[in-house]
Amino acid sequence: MVKRSKSSDRWLQRQRKDYFVRQAQEGGHVSRAHFKLEQLDQRFKLVRSRSRILELGAAPGGWTHYLEQRASQGLLIAVDPLPITSAEATHAISGLAGEAEVDDAIDRILDNRSLDLVLSDMAPNISGVRTVDQARAMDLADIALHGASKWLRRGGSMAIKAFQGEGLEAWLKARKTEFERVQMTKPKASRPESREVFIVALGFKGVEAPEIE
Ligand SMILES: C[S@@+](CC[C@H](N)C(=O)[O-])C[C@H]1O[C@@H](n2cnc3c(N)ncnc32)[C@H](O)[C@@H]1O
Repeated sequence: MVKRSKSSDRWLQRQRKDYFVRQAQEGGHVSRAHFKLEQLDQRFKLVRSRSRILELGAAPGGWTHYLEQRASQGLLIAVDPLPITSAEATHAISGLAGEAEVDDAIDRILDNRSLDLVLSDMAPNISGVRTVDQARAMDLADIALHGASKWLRRGGSMAIKAFQGEGLEAWLKARKTEFERVQMTKPKASRPESREVFIVALGFKGVEAPEIE
């Protein structure tokens, strides 16, 4: 028999008890992440049936599945280096957001059209060193912002995962010049003990964000 570590035992116990994990399994959803997006969408009215959407950090596909149903007449581009479970109509791009080839692939799909919504659930590989992990998380926020600044239409929206810690308050404040309304929120489906939050920015003003260094 395979021997499991204490931490993987704890993870399994937590998964079994977790309300949203059970709901995801019972509802046939790819992951509990589905409920985070559903809650953000219900509160901020992010997704419409004809929305053009860029989804960053899409694997394994919980959000993708939600978006395919809610924006069935729109356009969905989903990016992740890991495999994404998606419908045929979805433009799944295998690669890292922020890389030139991925940007080019998005440009080709959009063919001069702009986006209504940029979503990011990207998360860094956790090293366990808090300052390093926070810096990586802030880099991912910048990558998502770069996407929004490049392809979002005026009045468009952005909702991205971030982690509470060094740099986030200042980052949030800076977005207020670029969007009409900026808010930090934590959906109920996000684990209370995690530092994960979401930044929702509505009403893009069309101002270019600073270049990624
Ligand atoms: C929390 S998971 C996303 C879960 C997904 N939203 C769902 O509902 O199934 C985070 C994902 O971010 C991806 N990721 C991390 N850095 C990335 C990057 N630079 N570009 C694209 N995806 C990235 C990881 O590969 C991972 O699949």
